[in-house]
Amino acid sequence: MNLHGATALVTGGSSGIGFAIAKTLADAGARVAITGRDQDKLARAAATIGAHAIRADVSVEVDVQRTMADVTSTFGHLDILVNNAGIGVFKPLVAQDLESFTRVFATNVTGPMLMGREAARHFVTRRRGNIVNIASTAGTRGAPNGTAYYASKFALRGMTECWRGELRQHNVRVFLINPSEVLTPFFDNIGTPQADNPTKLHAEDIAHAVKAVLEMDDRGFTPELSIFATNPRD
Ligand SMILES: NC(=O)c1ccc[n+]([C@@H]2O[C@H](COP(=O)([O-])OP(=O)(O)OC[C@H]3O[C@@H](n4cnc5c(N)ncnc54)[C@H](OP(=O)(O)O)[C@@H]3O)[C@@H](O)[C@H]2O)c1
Repeated sequence: MNLHGATALVTGGSSGIGFAIAKTLADAGARVAITGRDQDKLARAAATIGAHAIRADVSVEVDVQRTMADVTSTFGHLDILVNNAGIGVFKPLVAQDLESFTRVFATNVTGPMLMGREAARHFVTRRRGNIVNIASTAGTRGAPNGTAYYASKFALRGMTECWRGELRQHNVRVFLINPSEVLTPFFDNIGTPQADNPTKLHAEDIAHAVKAVLEMDDRGFTPELSIFATNPRD
């Protein structure tokens, strides 16, 4: 697809990977809307890249419906949904509390389902569209302390395959992007600061991959793309 003049919605576009994707799409000439819960952070990010800001929580159904209504009234239609908003909780199974498990699934699984559903209804009517789900290499194999986060990304990966099975016949492309560790505020936000080192991936690397898969001619698509650091140290 040609990104110039295309319309895109990036959930969690106010920080990290989502911000880099939104900026990259805007730099390519797309009209971009971003969402997030923190109004100040969202407004700053939107002003930096010239995006349309929609304060919304992906896990709240009325927020998601308002988001789609806002996007279609602002842009006229939507071409690309990037389901990026996500949070992490990492605990051993024996310490996993119900509240944080439920919170992770609400944002990482229910959120993309609600956003995907609203976008899919629009895309099926238009007989075109693109859904990019930002999962993780955590969704490709289990690991200690991964009960909530890893399982949520497995679930997102599973939903992606279901959507592809349903939506391909309507000319809708559904992509799964699995970043390995990326330097973003994600880990600071959960109180486990990330060790910085020059071999780790940057948010721009993931944005580059998203742009590349979208730009392929609409006759084809890349079902799943995993992105690893070349020579990770720690
Ligand atoms: N960083 C990594 O190493 C890594 C690796 C693989 C995959 N990922 C995935 O990449 C995605 C982005 O992560 P990141 O590292 O860029 O994290 P980040 O810097 O913490 O950004 C997360 C974004 O999502 C928003 N968000 C969180 N919960 C939300 C909700 N309920 N509704 C709407 N927006 C919400 C945040 O804004 P508010 O807090 O203001 O809502 C923020 O804009 C996530 O799905 C994450 O699982 C990250």
